[in-house]
Amino acid sequence: MTQQIQPTPETRLPVQNRLEAYAATATFDRPTLVLDVDRMEEQYHALKRGLGRADIHYAVKANPHRAILERLIALGSHFDAASRGEIELCLSLGARAEHVSFGNTIKRAADIAWAHSAGITVFAADCTQELDKIAANAPGAQVYIRLIVETSNADWPLTRKFGCDRAMALELLDYARELGLTPLGFSFHVGSQTRRAEFWEPTLAEMAEVWADAKAAGHALRLINIGGGFPAFYGEAIEAPTDYAAHVMRLVEEAFPGAERIMAEPGRGLVAEAGVIACEVMLASRKSERDMHRWVYLSIGRFSGLAETEGEAIRYEFVTEKDGGPTGPCILAGPSCDSADVLYEKRPMHLPLALEAGDRVLIRNTGAYTSTYSSVCFNGFPPLDVIAI
Ligand SMILES: Cc1ncc(COP(=O)(O)O)c(C=O)c1O
Repeated sequence: MTQQIQPTPETRLPVQNRLEAYAATATFDRPTLVLDVDRMEEQYHALKRGLGRADIHYAVKANPHRAILERLIALGSHFDAASRGEIELCLSLGARAEHVSFGNTIKRAADIAWAHSAGITVFAADCTQELDKIAANAPGAQVYIRLIVETSNADWPLTRKFGCDRAMALELLDYARELGLTPLGFSFHVGSQTRRAEFWEPTLAEMAEVWADAKAAGHALRLINIGGGFPAFYGEAIEAPTDYAAHVMRLVEEAFPGAERIMAEPGRGLVAEAGVIACEVMLASRKSERDMHRWVYLSIGRFSGLAETEGEAIRYEFVTEKDGGPTGPCILAGPSCDSADVLYEKRPMHLPLALEAGDRVLIRNTGAYTSTYSSVCFNGFPPLDVIAI
C-alpha cells in the first residue's frame, strides 16, 4: 500500500500544518490520502472532553485505516462496526469484543452468528425480522432499536433508509424481550455533517417523545445511542469540537432523562480533519471561446474517493499552488470516461485561472468517507492510496 515517498524541497502551496506541508512536498504517483494520526488523537480528546460520560464508539466506516484503529484502541475508544469485515479488522488489531457494537440494522444471519461467537454482545435492529435473526443467531444478545429521523438539518442526511417509527419502536422492545433478547434502548442518527449543535434540537425533540412514551409504557430503558453527525470543517464555520459536543450532551441529558448509558458514534468529526488528499490537475479547458466556465479535471473524482460530492452535498476546500492569483468559476470533474464523474457544476468552484495540467492540488479535511468510497480500479485508475505520517 505504501509507496516510495521522495520529499521535494519547497512548495508554493499555502499549507496550514505539518500534514499539508507533507502532502504538498512528497512525491506521489497517484492521488493519495495522507493521514496525521496525532491530529486524529487531538480530535478524539477534544470530542471526549465535550462528550463527558458518553462512550465514543468510532464509526469504523468513516476510515478503517489500521493506523487510526490502532491509535483509537490504545486510547480506549469503542467501535461501531457495520459488517463482519469491520469487526474482524477491529478484533485483529486488538480491540476487545465487548467494545465493538454491530451497528448496522441490515446484517447477514451468518455474520450475526459469527459476531456472537467472536464475543460481540450488542446489536442494532429496526424491525421484527432483524430481531428474529439476532435471536436465532445470537441468543440472549443485547439490542438497541434504531429510530427513524424525520427532521434533519444535516448536509448529508441519512434519509429514511434506517430506523422505525415510534409505535413500532415500542412494539420492538416488547418483541425483543419475548425472543429472549435484552433490549437496552434506542439509537438514532441526526444526519452526517450537522454543522451546529443547535441543529440537533428538532431531532432530539422527536426522539425524546419516543423515549418518554417507552418509559410511560413501563420499559426500563438503559441506553441512548446518539450516533454521529459531528461536523468537520469544509469552509463553512463550525463550532470547536469540545464546545459542540458539550452543547449536544446538554441537550441529550435533557431529552433522555434517566439514561444510564450514552453512546456516541462519531466518524467524520473524528477523522476528516486528520486527512488531506494530494492530487493533480489533469486538464483545464473550455468547450468554446464563449464559454463562461472552464472545466478543470482532477486526477481524483467521484469514483476514486470523492463520492460525497453527490448532489454537491459536501463542498471540499481546494488548495493549489496558483492560489493568490486571479480566480474564476469552473466546473470541477474527475478523470474517468464517465459523464457522472462531475464534482461541482450546479455551484461552480472558484479556482485560479492559471491552473494547468500537472499542478498539485490539496483537498482539505478529507480523512473521512474517501478512501473506502474509492472504487477498486474504475476505468483502470488505481484506487486512492492512503499513507499515515
Ligand atoms: C450507525 C452510524 N453511526 C455513526 C455514523 C457516523 O456518522 P458521522 O460520520 O456523521 O459521525 C454513521 C454514518 O453513516 C452510521 O451509519
